[in-house]
Formats: sequence, structure tokens, C-alpha cells
Amino acid sequence: SEFTLNICCMGAGYVGGPTMAVIALKCPQIRVCVVDLSQKQIDAWNSDSLPIYEPGLPEVVSECRGRNLFFSTDIDGEIKRADIIFISVNTPTKTMGIGAGRAANIKNCELCARKIAEVSDSGKIVVEKSTVPVRTAQAVRRVLECNDKGLKFQVLSNPEFLAEGTAMEDLKAPDRVLIGGVQDEDGIKAAETLVSVYANWVPREQILTTNLWSSELSKLVANAFLAQRVSSINSISALCEATGADVNEISRAVGIDQRIGRRFLNSSIGFGGSCFQKDILNLVYLCETYGLHECAEYWNQVIVMNDYQKKRFTEKMVSSMFNTVTGKKIAILGYAFKKDTGDVRETPSMFVVRDLVLEQAKIHVFDPQVKREDMWIEMDYTCGMTEKTHPGLDKAVTTSPDAYSACDGAHAFAVLTEWDEFKTLDFERIYKGMAKPAFVFDGRNILDHAKLREIGFEVHAIGKPDPNKFSDL
Ligand code: NAD
Ligand code: UDX
Repeated sequence: SEFTLNICCMGAGYVGGPTMAVIALKCPQIRVCVVDLSQKQIDAWNSDSLPIYEPGLPEVVSECRGRNLFFSTDIDGEIKRADIIFISVNTPTKTMGIGAGRAANIKNCELCARKIAEVSDSGKIVVEKSTVPVRTAQAVRRVLECNDKGLKFQVLSNPEFLAEGTAMEDLKAPDRVLIGGVQDEDGIKAAETLVSVYANWVPREQILTTNLWSSELSKLVANAFLAQRVSSINSISALCEATGADVNEISRAVGIDQRIGRRFLNSSIGFGGSCFQKDILNLVYLCETYGLHECAEYWNQVIVMNDYQKKRFTEKMVSSMFNTVTGKKIAILGYAFKKDTGDVRETPSMFVVRDLVLEQAKIHVFDPQVKREDMWIEMDYTCGMTEKTHPGLDKAVTTSPDAYSACDGAHAFAVLTEWDEFKTLDFERIYKGMAKPAFVFDGRNILDHAKLREIGFEVHAIGKPDPNKFSDL
């Protein structure tokens, strides 16, 4: 064929789709095919409305799809054809059995390895793209070795560091690409093959090669360090509210020290997303498995602090509004776990909405990208709440077509996702339509609080001292 290399990626999700789209974009000589068990998911990738919202993704897909980028459910055929197979399937926290609530479930990875061993008729390079517990490559290797055709497979670890909302930029210009492999002749050769794919657009010095276990573990450590920064600044936000210090001023003063760095010090209602909590729990469970209880306890505190921050926010809303929100309309601006994505997995907004629903508030949610159906799927999966378990839930939460209708007649609005468009809303208009006193809870510190107070709002924000409480600000 006209292609120099065939890549197959198992798993057409938030990682598999964008990652392979960028490989296809940067390597026109390589044929890339993303496969999935879900026909619905593959149909969406082959349509005009992609299954995930990611800025810049539609442009790249429309440029490459049908040229050297393909989406298919022909898993067996694409495995046979491939030289390199990425495993990019979901590895969620186990919900039952040994390690439930902490250990990552690598069932999907093992199933992929078994499929590869079963259908391959030539040796291949198998790349772990999914985030997995350290030493998973050993399990993948053993499953692959059990094929009865005498085929030789090489297993590499190549964790993904993209963040949602900026995935395309992250993939086009990554800080680093990490490739772990067995440190023998064949392993090094396999790693070199993968290095040469990335070297089409990533400078060599940013492509790091390590042993398998360092690569697997680095991914968990990177997410744990990032989440730890958020929990650290969030713990300080509570102290700011109590003392009159301003958390934004602290972030600036502390982050300007280059040893600390400015980024990832934005105080919030807590971190969400499919990765941080899952990967830290994974790390905690690993530490426990190896008897390192102090290490486990240390990292677990990052999650404890995050849970506290989410809870603290709702409690503050209720206590500010005279200790009752029963029957009150409350507008929630933003449901995605961060801006520029429609992803709601582990979104902190969900926990705020859940707690307010339990207080019997009438919730009106506006998010520019989130689908109502996805809100309920996640509410069921993570909070175990459905219309069946909580009759009236469906009616208690309205999804609004825009921020203005969400806020109309409301006692309060809360900004829970930092969407840029929320900064430029017509707050005079919103104020006029709201019940008085009109409360604002800025869970992301993106609004101009002085201006809102001038209009007449009572403003509460994260780590921002209340001017009514301190006369000496
Ligand atoms: P996802 O749920 O969006 O996608 C996974 C896809 O894999 C699904 O479409 C599912 O149908 C498919 N799948 C499951 N089992 C399969 C099988 N046996 N054969 C073929 N397809 C199968 O998950 P995601 O967010 O893309 O995450 C994938 C992995 O990447 C996870 O391990 C995650 O921790 C890691 N990761 C995610 C991100 C992120 O931002 N989402 C970033 C870095 C790493
Ligand atoms: C994260 C990692 O950043 C990425 O490298 C990894 O591959 C996957 O996990 P993601 O979860 O997509 O990416 O988004 P991220 O930007 O890390 O944000 C995670 C959560 O932390 C969001 O809820 C975000 O709002 C929150 N956050 C982030 C803060 O509250 N404050 C910050 O300063 C930064």
C-alpha cells in the first residue's frame, strides 16, 4: 500500500480520538485506524457531529478522515493489519470486589491484549496508552505471550498527558512524550519505532525513554502532583475567607517564585474530571498494596481536601441564604468539569447540584456544551441517584437554554465552570430579573466582584474575604 506504517488504536474516546487524529495529521505517510466496541461511538466519529467536544478537533478530523484516518468497528481486521496497536480504553476505579473504590479496573486492557493475541497473525508492538497501575505491562505481556502461534510481541508504555479542552494544542506541542520499554535489544528497537512516529513533530529531546515501570508510574505521579497543587491552594482558600487574605493574591505572590511556578494554582470548588481522583486512588491503592501506609495516607489527603472543598461550597451557599434554600430557584452556570469541554465525569458541579437538590432547591442549569442525558448518566454512576432512587429528581433540575432564563426569578446564581462567556453576561439585566437579595456564588473567581456589588448583588467567592465581615480590607 501507499502507507509506510499501520497504526490501530483500540478505544475511540477522549484520548484515542484526538491522539490518533493528531498522529494522522502530522504523519500523512502512516495509516491510522481507531476501533471501538461501540457502534454508536464509531458512527459519531464518522459523522459531522463528533462524539466529544474539543476545540480544533473537527477541523483536524475533517482534514484527515478518509485520507489516512479511519474509524471502524472491524476490530479483528484492523488488529491483523496493524504494526503498532495502541490500547486506549477506559480504566475506571473498581466499583466492587477487591480494592473497590480505589483500585483501577484494567479489565478492558486485558481484554484488548487477549483479542490481540487471538486474532494476530504477525508480531506487533502493543502500546499501553491507557493510564494503568504500575506493572500492568507485565500482565499485558504475559497474556500476549500465551498465543499459540509463536508470535513475538513487544509491549511499550506511552501514557497520555493531554488535558481536555486543550487536547489539540497539548498533542501538537506536548511538554514531553514518554515511552517506556523493556531494556533489551528488542525492547529498545520497539521503543525506537514509536519514537520515530512522534519525531515527525516532537523535538527528540522532548521524547523521553525509560523502563516500563517508570513510565507507567510517572503518569500517576504527574496527575497526583497536579491535583495536589489544586488541593493545596484550595485548603488556603478556606483560611483566606477566615482571615481577610485574598487567595488570588496569594497564588500570585507564591507562584512568581519560579521553583513553585504560576500555573495550576487557581482556587476552585474542587477538581473534577475523569482522571485526577481515579489516578490518585490508584496510587493510594498501590502504596497500600506494597505496605506503604504513610505514603498512601499522604496522597489520600489530596482527595479528602477536594471533598471538603466541594462540600464547603454548598454549605456556604445554604448558610448565606438564611440557612434555607427549600423551594428557592437557584441558577447553576456551568456543569462541565472545566471550560471548553462537554465532559461531566466527576464534575464538581454535580456534587453541588446533588446537595442542593437534597435541600429541595429548584435547580436551573445552563452549560454551553453539556447534554442533559450525560448529566443523568454521571449522576447515576457516581452518586447513585436516579429518578427511581430519588423520585422528583428529574423535575428538580431544569436545563436552561441560556444563562438569562436560568437566572430569571432565581434567588442566587452560582458559577461552577469557568466558561469565558460567563464573564461578559449582562449582569444588570440578570440582577433586575432576580429575587432580592440577589446572591452570587463565584466558584471559579472569574467575575468582577466589585462591579457586581455595585449593581446590588451579594457576592461570595472562593478564598475572597467578605467585605461585610472585614472592615479592614
Ligand atoms: P473513554 O471512556 O472516553 O473511551 C474509552 C473507549 O474505549 C470507549 O469508547 C469504550 O467503548 C472503548 N472500549 C472499552 N473496552 C474496549 C475494548 N475491549 N475494545 C475496544 N474498545 C473498547 O476513556 P478516555 O477518557 O479516552 O480514557 C482512556 C484512558 O486514557 C484511560 O485509562 C484514562 O485514564 C486515560 N487518560 C485519559 C485522559 C482524559 O483526559 N480523558 C487523559 C490522559 C489519560
Ligand atoms: C488532567 C491533567 O492535566 C492531564 O495532564 C492528564 O492527562 C489528564 O488529567 P484534565 O482532567 O483534562 O487533565 O483537566 P485539568 O486541566 O487538569 O483540570 C482538572 C480539574 O482541576 C478541573 O476540574 C479543573 O477545573 C481543576 N483545576 C485545575 C483547578 O481547580 N485549579 C487549577 O488551577 C487547575
